[in-house]
Amino acid sequence: QAGDVVAALGAHRLVPVVVVDGADEGARLADALVAGGLPVAEITLRTAGGIDAIRAVARTQTDVVVGAGTVTTVDQVDAVVDAGARYIVSPGLSAAVVRRAQEHGVPVLPGVATPSEIMAALDLGIDVVKLFPASVVGGPAAIKAFSAPFPGLRFVPTGGVSAANLGDYLRLAPVLAVGGSWMVEKSLVAQGDWAEITRRTADAVALAAT
Ligand code: 3PG
Repeated sequence: QAGDVVAALGAHRLVPVVVVDGADEGARLADALVAGGLPVAEITLRTAGGIDAIRAVARTQTDVVVGAGTVTTVDQVDAVVDAGARYIVSPGLSAAVVRRAQEHGVPVLPGVATPSEIMAALDLGIDVVKLFPASVVGGPAAIKAFSAPFPGLRFVPTGGVSAANLGDYLRLAPVLAVGGSWMVEKSLVAQGDWAEITRRTADAVALAAT
């Protein structure tokens, strides 16, 4: 089942990184993503309401592959799994976070930015990493360089991805999916501009399909 979730992320190729205030906003945003053709959301714990949003989407929008982002502690792993998160994303590599997610049988994508962090992730049995912040560590060129010594490792580059450079990442074979907030910018959420979120999402979905 853990493999199914990773396969779903790889099929959609896009992981919108979502910041919402709570359950209602989370549900509205998930609807906007689905309307754009993308039943995937990484809801971050950057707001106090993040967990409630994960729980709401997991309960009522079961077609959405909902995960938790910005997970940095073992307690947060327990909380998001309890809320129904189907995958966990972390900005960095914490062995404790990875091991706890593995104990729950929930796929975890730790953030890496160096070969040493990749090696530590491989030691933990990880085969998909978040490259973060992707634009800062070298963009598509970094993925080419990192994948040479680590064949078989797949990347979800996140950080600085936009409609303009999305294609440069997606055409690289080691890229499972691309993550980012450009489709679901916080200002759009604050304005309740669900139509623009759906439009950006549909554009990205169309690009990812080519
Ligand atoms: C993340 O934590 O994944 C990032 O904040 C997303 O990066 P972006 O906002 O540059 O897309």
